[in-house]
Amino acid sequence: MKACSQCRRTFTADIFFCPYDGNNLTVASDEESLGDDPLVGRTLLDRYRITARIGEGGMCTVYRANHVLTQKNWAVKILHAELASQRQAVKRFQKEALAASRIDQQNVISVTDFGTSEEGYVYLVMEYLEGITLKRAIQTDGAFSIERIIHVTKQIAEALDAAHRQSVIHRDLKPENIMLLATDRPERETVKVVDFGIAKVQDSTTDSAPLTAPNLVMGTPQYMSPEQAKGLELDARSDIYSLGVIVYEMLTGKPPFYGGPSKIVLAKHANESPPSPRRVRPEISAHVERVVMRALEKSPLRRPQTASEMARELELAVRLAATMTKSHGVEDFQPLPSSAPAKPETQITESSNPPVNQPVDVAARSLVATLQAAGDVKTPGSTDSYRWLLPAVIFGVVCLLIILFLWKMG
Ligand SMILES: Nc1ncnc2c1ncn2[C@@H]1O[C@H](COP(=O)(O)OP(=O)(O)OP(=O)(O)O)[C@@H](O)[C@H]1O
Ligand SMILES: [Mg+2]
Repeated sequence: MKACSQCRRTFTADIFFCPYDGNNLTVASDEESLGDDPLVGRTLLDRYRITARIGEGGMCTVYRANHVLTQKNWAVKILHAELASQRQAVKRFQKEALAASRIDQQNVISVTDFGTSEEGYVYLVMEYLEGITLKRAIQTDGAFSIERIIHVTKQIAEALDAAHRQSVIHRDLKPENIMLLATDRPERETVKVVDFGIAKVQDSTTDSAPLTAPNLVMGTPQYMSPEQAKGLELDARSDIYSLGVIVYEMLTGKPPFYGGPSKIVLAKHANESPPSPRRVRPEISAHVERVVMRALEKSPLRRPQTASEMARELELAVRLAATMTKSHGVEDFQPLPSSAPAKPETQITESSNPPVNQPVDVAARSLVATLQAAGDVKTPGSTDSYRWLLPAVIFGVVCLLIILFLWKMG
């Protein structure tokens, strides 16, 4: 954040001169960054009394506002004043409101109103979320427990599937854009996907002209799919890659590629295999790692084709690993240690919710089959148990051929 040396208004780091009085901007103090905002204390549209600034991004500031009549809290997102006169920026902002309001799903932020106020503020009003971002949760708690990862991933996946069904691609899915609502039990927290700021609506009924002005079409390098990094056309599977990055980060505490200039991070997404999560945290099950790496495939075709498919695979991989541990005594699954105060982790057992429409055993076996067919995963004990199978099949076929031959001759 930067602050004006004269009026002390604050601006994002990419602004050099105060748009109000033309003075130089200097780095803002924490106090200035968070508290001293001319909008705090004012009432927008005669009904939203702005009570605090709660978030800041490249183009917008998010405020908590209290409705003067109902006393209910709302979140009001306002386009930075210096962008309010730029047609492209305003259009992008309206697209965000339209994209988010198309999706009526409990894990997607609900936008109720948007427009331009009499004073010229370009705003959108949304439900107020009492909680923290997933980014903050990872920073404070470190790598998540596997139970919490599944719980969070399933909800993000449901949000994404709902968006994709409405032809909306988020394109900026990252932990800063995922809110975890306050609860006393982290493993039961509700997830909301926010910030459809660069979402793309893929259908003919919407004006889908690209917003190509510099600095308007953005993404976040650490979470960008290879196709996004290369500037190619995106579809829903780009969001699935970003979800893979997020799951990787929840598992290990860090995304697969980070640090250094954006260009390098993007090149890594485009060309390099992600480092094995098991190398970062050896306790991670091979099955879980396989699911994450599949979501991070360079080719969209090789990824799970829907977000829920990925979430289901993840859940099955955990169950499978737990079953292996129980029935074969194989130490393939171990709960992840968490940097949060030690809390006993529960392995997922048969009594947990079964995956949609599939009994656990059948589902687990089909996952093993899929993983083995891909030639990547050897389940412990599988080579020993089934070593006799191929010779037996060959023997059977040979016997059949001999019988056929004798029958023809005779
Ligand atoms: N509805 C909400 N309730 C509470 N806090 C929110 C809400 N929406 C956003 N926030 C907070 O504000 C931050 C910024 O919000 P958001 O990501 O929507 O905007 P942004 O990053 O400024 O957008 P852009 O990238 O378009 O400039 C979030 O990371 C979150 O901390
Ligand atoms: Mg954001």
